[in-house]
Amino acid sequence: MNVCPLLLALLPTTPAQPGAPAILPKPVHLAVGAGSPFEITRNTVLVAPSDLEGARLLQTMLATGAGLHLPTAHRTNSHGWIRFQKAPAGTIKAEGYTLHVTHDGIAVHYADQGGSVNAVETLRQLLPPAIEASHPSGTSHWTVPAVDVEDAPRFPWRGMHLDVSRHFFPAAFIKKYIDYLALMKMNVFHWHLVDDGGWRLQIDKYPKLTEVGAWRYGITTDWDQSRLRFDPSSGLPKYGGFYTKAEVRDIVKYAAARNVTIVPEIEMPGHAMPVFAAYPELGCKNQPKADLTGQPDTNVYCAGSESTYRFIENVLDEVMALFPSKWIHIGGDEVDKRFWKACPVCQDRIKKEGLKNEEELQSYFVRRIDKYLASKGRRLIGWDEILEGGLAKGATVMSWRGIDGGIAAAKAGHDVVMSPTSHAYFDASNTSQTTEHVYTFDPVPPALNATEAKHVLGGQANVWTEWIPTTQRVEYMIFPRIAAMSEVLWSPKEGRDVNEFLSRLSSIYERLDRLGANYYLPAPRVKTNALLFIDHAQVSVIEEKKMPGSIRYTLDGSAPTAKSKLYAGPITIDRKGTVTFAFVNQAGHAGSTTTVECAPSDPGVPSNLIRGWNVAYYEGSWTQTPDYSKLTPIKEAVSTTVDLAQRAREDNFALHFAGYFKAGTEGLYRFALTSDDGSWLKIGGLSVVNNDGTHPPTTREGSIWLPRGFFPIEVGYFQAAEAKSLSLSVQAPGANSIGPADPFILHAGS
Ligand code: ACM
Ligand code: ZN
Repeated sequence: MNVCPLLLALLPTTPAQPGAPAILPKPVHLAVGAGSPFEITRNTVLVAPSDLEGARLLQTMLATGAGLHLPTAHRTNSHGWIRFQKAPAGTIKAEGYTLHVTHDGIAVHYADQGGSVNAVETLRQLLPPAIEASHPSGTSHWTVPAVDVEDAPRFPWRGMHLDVSRHFFPAAFIKKYIDYLALMKMNVFHWHLVDDGGWRLQIDKYPKLTEVGAWRYGITTDWDQSRLRFDPSSGLPKYGGFYTKAEVRDIVKYAAARNVTIVPEIEMPGHAMPVFAAYPELGCKNQPKADLTGQPDTNVYCAGSESTYRFIENVLDEVMALFPSKWIHIGGDEVDKRFWKACPVCQDRIKKEGLKNEEELQSYFVRRIDKYLASKGRRLIGWDEILEGGLAKGATVMSWRGIDGGIAAAKAGHDVVMSPTSHAYFDASNTSQTTEHVYTFDPVPPALNATEAKHVLGGQANVWTEWIPTTQRVEYMIFPRIAAMSEVLWSPKEGRDVNEFLSRLSSIYERLDRLGANYYLPAPRVKTNALLFIDHAQVSVIEEKKMPGSIRYTLDGSAPTAKSKLYAGPITIDRKGTVTFAFVNQAGHAGSTTTVECAPSDPGVPSNLIRGWNVAYYEGSWTQTPDYSKLTPIKEAVSTTVDLAQRAREDNFALHFAGYFKAGTEGLYRFALTSDDGSWLKIGGLSVVNNDGTHPPTTREGSIWLPRGFFPIEVGYFQAAEAKSLSLSVQAPGANSIGPADPFILHAGS
């Protein structure tokens, strides 16, 4: 390579070459070499400084995955070597590396320890996926394609958070989680060790934090904040756990060897229920009079009392002794300040310090902790609420309630980490916060100028675990979205292309299967979820871009498993029923399901059909559309439109529309049903749109495949109170827009 690596690190990623290996996150520069690949054999020698983390990691990986125990050497032979050399200072950005693979060997240049690890994580993805298995498999050729890679991260903070308070995950899984971060070149593990669900870290000076605070009674895997109790005499089921100092030291070391810094979070002054169960004297003196139903806290740290600060400083001393991280996270979010308002000690403090209000008391609290951490050579980081009442001097802001907090902090010259709920909350479902959506995230908002943008250290995805009780579920929530987040934080912004990313992403699944890691599998896509036919129909799946595993299906409404029928092409249906599809991966995990409902329909209809609906009007009070078969209409009429014209009063009524839908051509008909309150659409007895329940004006869409003919159609609707609306639109096959359904509707004339 004769291009300066430093310069290349500033350039946009080069477009992927055809046949280029799929590396996640995308390297800054990757060129496929012309030569033949390099094969790692038992004769390959390793040339590297003995204390180099990347070299050690490579040795471990090849020993466990390939059964190859590489001998070390001081110099390279003409053939068969992997050589690590530190790059001259300033030539490669921090955590960066270059790889030069030829038939003879692999030359690695690295900027620092982290760079050597990142080089090996790329090398890992250049090797066959079998390298991931912990038992050497049948693969015997460990070849690495001839490539040139020059790579370095865009941001220094590439974080993943894990809440171990709401649910507890054992130390062995924390190591696995760190492995996952390292695979994706993420370098910060934000360990959320304290929250209302339990205190998870051994603290010698305050043993009750774990004796009492690590064990809750009543809430096991089903989260319910209002039922949190730390009282063993309750007789309720026990749940919890904590990490011993020995475990933490081991995990910190394990992470460091993988270029992962652990930032511990000791949440304060709110979200700390277990603390007050263990040491009630640390909380405020009075319960506020206001109704606290649904509030996250039963108390908060008393910000007026000196003993609170002594306690926190003592805890932080033990935390800092365990965690070498420059940053210590102190939480700071969602503090219920009504406790401070009601507490005489806090009110005294406000007076004595000349503070204006409880916001300034929070600021006073955070400033004191900031000063303490700074006196020990550390830096405070907290959620964006720490901006309220004035930000402490050295504080770094983690912006979660959107990006505005991060923008304000960066403009004021503070460092920030962007972690907005909109893109970085992996506890949100995979369908509401998709991988593709995460990929659109940019931690640097346009509102920041170049100087301010330098304060953006990077970004982070958070995994809050109220609704994530198992390690398998954690994996399901992070994979594959972590790859999108990783690429946002590592790769240059310019030249990013989501489709190119998705095609590279498909390479991850075989590795995850071999690692035994669970992941989200989307529901297979189908053209329509409802289908009417005359004799028979064919149901098929829209083939996806390289999804892992295979598509399986059932015909009895049950969810597919690894034992279900393999989908190999269109399925012929000749009776009423459902086809349920899911991806099932090599490990036997089934993903989300897609159901297609099918029914035969009699094309024979009354001969004297004329335009319009039969409309029936009912009165009553409902929260769902009623069962019309059990009701007697107040009034019946014929109407050419789906609307509310037939109502006799403003509230508490229902309508039922019935007729025949005229399908002039065979094909897919798309419907949009808008209503306030609830409604539904059925054709041939099949549900096409379900828009039921009390709600503001809401449009829901659905589609059905219809043969040519006339098919029974029904719309149900009810109105509870206040605003109301109802309309139905349709797009026929071949039509280029959606319009009113009324021209398609007929009913039997008398
Ligand atoms: C948070 O999600 N409450 C930081
Ligand atoms: Zn107080």
